Amino acid sequence: TKTIGILTSGGDCAGLNAVIRAVVHRAAHYGWTVLGIRDGTMGLLDRPMRYETLDVTKVDGTVMRLGGTILGTTNKGNPFAFPMPDRSTKDRSDEIIEAVRELKLDAVIGIGGDGSFAILRRLATQGGFNLVGIPKTIDNDIGLTEVAVGFDTAVSVATEALDRLQPTAASHARVMVLEVMGRDAGHIALHAGIAGGADVILLPEIPYDLDVVAKKILDLRAGGRNSALIIVSEAVRTLEGKMVKVEHHGGARRYGGIGQYLGEAISQATGAETRVTVLGHVQRGSPPSAQDRLVATAFGVHAVDLVADGKFDRMVAWSNRRVVDVPIADAIARYQAVDLESDLVKTARALGICLGDR
Ligand code: F6P
Repeated sequence: TKTIGILTSGGDCAGLNAVIRAVVHRAAHYGWTVLGIRDGTMGLLDRPMRYETLDVTKVDGTVMRLGGTILGTTNKGNPFAFPMPDRSTKDRSDEIIEAVRELKLDAVIGIGGDGSFAILRRLATQGGFNLVGIPKTIDNDIGLTEVAVGFDTAVSVATEALDRLQPTAASHARVMVLEVMGRDAGHIALHAGIAGGADVILLPEIPYDLDVVAKKILDLRAGGRNSALIIVSEAVRTLEGKMVKVEHHGGARRYGGIGQYLGEAISQATGAETRVTVLGHVQRGSPPSAQDRLVATAFGVHAVDLVADGKFDRMVAWSNRRVVDVPIADAIARYQAVDLESDLVKTARALGICLGDR
C-alpha cells in the first residue's frame, strides 16, 4: 500500500476540487491513503503539520461542484526564499523535506502552475521524493498541455460578461471595454472575445495601434452600429509601453488599469462614450464548467496511475484528445503564449475582429 500527499499551490481556479476528488477515488481503487496537505507547502512547513486524511466520503457529493480548493492554497510559501518578519528571507526547504519523510509519502501530487512546479521539483530533487504534477491555471500558459484545469471556466465567465455587456452597450450606444485576467498571456481574452462576439480583442502578444482600434469603432458607426465590445488582457501595455496591471498597497492589490486607460484613449480618439469593466477574480471563483470537471477528473486519475507505474517528475497533460504525461521540466520550459499562427487567431481575423494591429 502507498500514501500519497496532495496539495494545491498558487492561485486557485475552478476545478481544483474535482481533481482532488478524482485522486481520492483512484487511490481508493488501489487501496491507498491520501493525505490532503493544507495551504500548499505551508501545511508541510508549519509544526504541527497541517493535513487531513481524505477518503471517498469526504470528497463525494458537493465537492466536485465547488469552486476554489477545499485544501486551501497560497502563493506566499516559497520555502527557498521564505519571507521572514524582518523582511529577510530564509531557506526552509529542509523542513518540507523532513515533513514528507515523516508522513512517509510515497509520492506528492502537486496541482499547480509553472511557478509552483519549479519549487516542487527543486524540493523533490533535493529531498529525493516522488512528484507528479497536475496543471491548473486560468491563464492556460503552461507548455505541452492544450488545457490546464480552470481555463475553460474562466473563459465561460468572461464570455458571459460579454453577453451581459452587449445589451447595455447597444441600448446606450456605448463602447464597452472588458478587462480580463491571463497574467502575461492573452488566452482568456482571445477565447472569450471570439465566443462572446467582441469587435476588438487586444492581447499582450500583439502590439496594438490606437488608430487601428479607433478606425474599427468609426467603421462600425459608419455601418450603422453605435456600440462595440472590446476585450483586453490585463498585461496589454499603454501606448508608451507601460504595464499598468497591478498596483500594490501593502497586502492589498488593485487590478485593472489598462481597461480604464484604453476606455479613455478610445473615447478621445472616437468621441464614443465608453464604460469599463474589470472582471478580476470573478473569473476564478465559479463552479467548474463541465469541460473543466472532465479534464480535472481525467488528470486526477492519470496522476494516480503514474504513481502506480512508478513514473515520476512528470506532469499530466491534454494532447490530441488524450491524457498523456510529459516531463515537468519540459512543461515549465515551454511557456505557452498565444500563438499568432494559431487557428483561433486566424479565425478572429477572418471574422473581421480587430486585433489592434495593421
Ligand atoms: O495566474 C492566475 C491569476 O488569476 C492571473 O490571471 C492574475 O494576474 C493573478 O493570478 C492574480 O493574482 P492574485 O490572486 O494574487 O491577485
